[in-house]
Amino acid sequence: MNELEDLVQSARSAFGRSATAADLENAKALYFGKAGRVTELMKGMAALSVEEKKTRGAAINATKQAIEAALNERRQALADAELQAQLKAESLDVTLPGRQHAAGGLHPVSLTLERIEGIFGSMGFEVADGPEIETDWFNFTALNTPADHPARSMHDTFYVEGGHLLRTHTSPMQIRHAVQHVKRHRFALDAGQGMPEIRVIAPGRTYRVDSDATHSPMFHQCEGLWIGEDISFKDLKVVFTDFCRTFFENDDLVLRFRPSFFPFTEPSAEIDIQFPSGPLAGRWLEVAGSGQVHPNVVRHMGLDTERFIGFAFGMGPDRLTMLRYGVNDLRLFFDGDIRFLSQFR
Ligand code: DAH
Repeated sequence: MNELEDLVQSARSAFGRSATAADLENAKALYFGKAGRVTELMKGMAALSVEEKKTRGAAINATKQAIEAALNERRQALADAELQAQLKAESLDVTLPGRQHAAGGLHPVSLTLERIEGIFGSMGFEVADGPEIETDWFNFTALNTPADHPARSMHDTFYVEGGHLLRTHTSPMQIRHAVQHVKRHRFALDAGQGMPEIRVIAPGRTYRVDSDATHSPMFHQCEGLWIGEDISFKDLKVVFTDFCRTFFENDDLVLRFRPSFFPFTEPSAEIDIQFPSGPLAGRWLEVAGSGQVHPNVVRHMGLDTERFIGFAFGMGPDRLTMLRYGVNDLRLFFDGDIRFLSQFR
């Protein structure tokens, strides 16, 4: 009997010395492996007489069970210890500041475009969108700027294959939109009836070979067009004055319509604004070009120049954004620096 108790003792201490799960598996093999000590004992049972099996057999079984129990106990202890060590290593420092999940926001120029669309929308203007890759016809010729016209030199741009170019202004949208509008109402026009007025703005990206603090090769413009049977320069003044005062939330803003030249308008005017107070007070700031739509342009829209008349304007939303937020370098808008952009959220 002593010999069996010794065996249990030796197994217990062998398991106890096993510091890792792998060590424990090696120790287990000494007892339960093919030539293990418990295995040998079990094999020896075959040679016992029936009488001996009752006593010695029962003792061997008890020994086997005791060693198995010792093995399981040690297994559990090692697993517990491993878990404790892991928990300790992975402990959370709940005093660390949390990671920021910053909310996204619209780009300042997008905010301006939304504002422009909202204000003109409230005055009954539709919003039209058109291609940035334009034809020479829509960008220049239809706008009374034929090849060799000196005004083209101020509109150097990027040319793409097939004679197309990146539009230098949003003015081609005047023609594109008007032609569609006229097409839609062709029936009524041909029957000598009227046509709903064309009242549209067309915001979008434009391109020129230009780059400095106030010019970027890609910039934004927003075109405006109002054509009807009795639309005059007076309406332009009212609409644009209203727009500027609403946009800058300042009813004391002063506007100046300064005579100028554009091939597609006659007469033409640059529109300047002046803030009554604040850091920009007293300075005239140019915000748009405008004028009464030239008869040649009205003709290219497919309209009778004896009957239809109106005004157009083109403004720079980038410039408006700079003035509204006091930004002095246009390039900041297009650098994509989150530290700058997040200030407008
Ligand atoms: N397209 C002109 C430019 O980019 C701006 C402009 C001037 C647009 C007069 C107009 C206008 O519609 O009537 O310089």
